[in-house]
Amino acid sequence: MGRANKVVLAYSGGVDTSVCIPYLKEEWGIQEVITFAADLGQGDELEPIRAKALEAGASQSLVGDLIQPFIEEFAFPAIRANALYEGRYPLSTALARPLIARRLVEVAREIGADAVAHGCTGKGNDQVRFDVAIAALAPDLKVLTPAREWGMSREETIAYGERCGIPAPVSKKSPYSIDLNLLGRSIEAGPLEDPMVAPPEEVFAMTVSIDQAPDQAEEIEIGFEAGNPVTINGQSLSPVEMIREANRLAGRHGIGRLDMIENRVVGIKSREIYETPGLLLLIQAHQELESLTLAADVLRSKRQLEMQWADLVYQGLWFGPLKDALDGFMDRTQDHVNGVVRLRLQKGTAAVIGRGSTSSSLYVPEMASYGSEDQFDHRAAEGFIYVWGLPTRLWSASQRRSS
Ligand code: ARG
Repeated sequence: MGRANKVVLAYSGGVDTSVCIPYLKEEWGIQEVITFAADLGQGDELEPIRAKALEAGASQSLVGDLIQPFIEEFAFPAIRANALYEGRYPLSTALARPLIARRLVEVAREIGADAVAHGCTGKGNDQVRFDVAIAALAPDLKVLTPAREWGMSREETIAYGERCGIPAPVSKKSPYSIDLNLLGRSIEAGPLEDPMVAPPEEVFAMTVSIDQAPDQAEEIEIGFEAGNPVTINGQSLSPVEMIREANRLAGRHGIGRLDMIENRVVGIKSREIYETPGLLLLIQAHQELESLTLAADVLRSKRQLEMQWADLVYQGLWFGPLKDALDGFMDRTQDHVNGVVRLRLQKGTAAVIGRGSTSSSLYVPEMASYGSEDQFDHRAAEGFIYVWGLPTRLWSASQRRSS
């Protein structure tokens, strides 16, 4: 069919991406399918996944450890931007896609492939993120999307796989579709498709239920430098260690679960369950430190731009011009975000109980105090209020005249 000769396929080890291997070869006549599986800290054993691709007919099966760039280049910018899609979802899945796309393109270059492929369906956001990222980074590479075109139901996909020697998923009875990495887990499908059905406890793996969380509160202190979380309780942690430790602390107190109706790029509303304990904890602490260290107008502008940053990451525009421009703004503001935030973790909530910054605080005790150290000139308020209230007084007077 002349689609391509040598293809690098983004590979997860799941049924869809496994079936892509024989499908690309047999239906589309691709000679060589090379798989690439990314380690994003999801905790899966990668060796069985590597072997599974070869069994399914891949001519080479590659795995790559992307954990460090994932956290440093994708998760930390999201923390600095307090990125919460629709005010809630911290983009744990969305942030991984441009990185996988970038690595896929690099692998394609290294091995001289003329196309890349992914197993996303035509209903989700991930296809948008992959396709746009690849097109931005490598406009000459073809993107093959068998699962978007084959029109098979899940049962048919499993049956096709079985005919090609791909075993049906072990947990055939697990009805859920799960995406996971070090930042969190997304759980969809099965009984969750009814938005009225409460998520059963079995779907969670990184957080305990509030019932199971200890009664005893735990107080922690998170330290930031230039907007990046760098210490917990005074101990320096690398970015990857920081996420792991924040996941552990929040998870064991039942913090970080979300149940929401979300608006997908393709226009569908979908019901999503997430658990993203560490990321949500770090964003909460980061927002708090910004309240102390950013000027009011910068803070207000940043809150609006954060929404746009989250939208464009969700919508697959990581490599676009607005993202680039907004990053310039975000980075510049973060020079001032230095200090610590104290939180109390207990029974599903993280409550801020203190914040401080020796170098960057804009909180001035002599201005804020009601005590004897007060330096604010109270009489200056009178003239200020006269001018400030002038338009309101003029308008009210004219209303009285005309009534
Ligand atoms: N709705 C979330 C997002 O768009 C999660 C997607 C999960 N992806 C998946 N292939 N299961 O970021």
